[in-house]
Amino acid sequence: MLKLDIAKAQCFLADDAVAKLEPAVKSAQKSLEEETCLGNDYVGWLHLPSSITPEFLDDVQHTADVLRANCEAIVVAGIGGSYLGAKAVIDALSNSFQWLTKGANEPTILFAGNNIGEDYLYELTEYLRGKKFGVINISKSGTTTETALAFRLLKKQCEEQRGKEEARKVIVAVTDAKKGAARTTADKEGYKSYVIPDNVGGRFSVLTPVGLLPIACAGFDIKALVKGAVDMERQTSAEVKYEENPSEQYAAIRNALYANGKRIEILANFQPKLHYMNEWWKQLYGESEGKDHKGIFPAAVDFTTDLHSMGQWIQDGERSMFETVISVAAPKHKLLFPHDDENLDGLNFLEGKRVDEVNKMAELGTQLAHVDGGVPNIRITIDALDEYHIGQLIYFFERACGISGIVLGVNPFNQPGVEAYKKNMFALLDKPGYEAESIAIKARI
Ligand code: PA5
Repeated sequence: MLKLDIAKAQCFLADDAVAKLEPAVKSAQKSLEEETCLGNDYVGWLHLPSSITPEFLDDVQHTADVLRANCEAIVVAGIGGSYLGAKAVIDALSNSFQWLTKGANEPTILFAGNNIGEDYLYELTEYLRGKKFGVINISKSGTTTETALAFRLLKKQCEEQRGKEEARKVIVAVTDAKKGAARTTADKEGYKSYVIPDNVGGRFSVLTPVGLLPIACAGFDIKALVKGAVDMERQTSAEVKYEENPSEQYAAIRNALYANGKRIEILANFQPKLHYMNEWWKQLYGESEGKDHKGIFPAAVDFTTDLHSMGQWIQDGERSMFETVISVAAPKHKLLFPHDDENLDGLNFLEGKRVDEVNKMAELGTQLAHVDGGVPNIRITIDALDEYHIGQLIYFFERACGISGIVLGVNPFNQPGVEAYKKNMFALLDKPGYEAESIAIKARI
């Protein structure tokens, strides 16, 4: 089971700082359970894992199997919560050199619709030229520009290369039940489609088909992923004692540190495969808490890589942050340092040791150095990088995020700030309906 260790953060605070937050945390949990919190129409994620039925997972798996059997590549079109969860899980579970090692019948999973880079899209369409590819079009609103742009290109190319009939079999939509262009297109074209529940916001949707379908397409065990989340749902429920509830403790220590001037949280991993887990976490916490001119700034680093870039700042820069480390207890593979007769590199003292032992000493050494440097340190340990433990990690973070935002006093489930750039972009592009904004914004250029 996932373990949370806050001792090396708590020592920077008054002895009772975390204990004092128990009433606020328990009340946040109550308001989530009773759906009385701010943003209460978006708490569908709370009991999502335990409400997923085996039949539903079988259906998602079947769709994935059809795509896997018929595609050399599957492009997942989506942005924000409509892609980061799937990307995070797939990367965490994949071979680091999946491009080189994937089996003959393994489709390559690609992502698009998360940027508007012309070169990116051009190069993607070039890569897909002549290939049997499928598309999963993911958009809760069904109207997000980045995703819609990419999907238009991909749909056309897929139809041109496979014919409209064949394309219909390998294009799947994950979107709203009724509204949005993605729904209209899916219904008109007769695509297989899944509904993103109304009460589950994008960044909390990885355990819906938004994440489950791409993850199953990549060949990973979605039943084990959901099982991990279900077990964590139990472990973090409001009935569990405060001191034993990892999500409550994490939410509490974050708020206590924030109240003590720690405005930045740096999520660190010691496994390169977790890079996109950092990105998913950044969105989850940034979009949930950064509002009303409040909120911890979520930053992220990959160690030991970034110890050679950001390490200086963390050790010695402004003392305004704390660090949360995701530690993976056991790697999947075993690799021992070999003996070298000449020992020219002076590394024979590591002979016979596992690479992970060196990594773990780097982790421990970094933790102690950063604590000495004045950086409170939180550690989250999962047993392994597999579906079950990733499922635990995801739900642990989601639950803590909901609690933490409520304790902070914001609505953790909306994202009004995301709209500002869209309005300007549409006005600048002369989108119909934006005439007044267009005149106003062009006057400012
Ligand atoms: O968390 C969120 O709600 C956002 O990040 C959305 O996921 C993102 O903007 C994509 O929106 P949509 O799924 O409507 O295309």
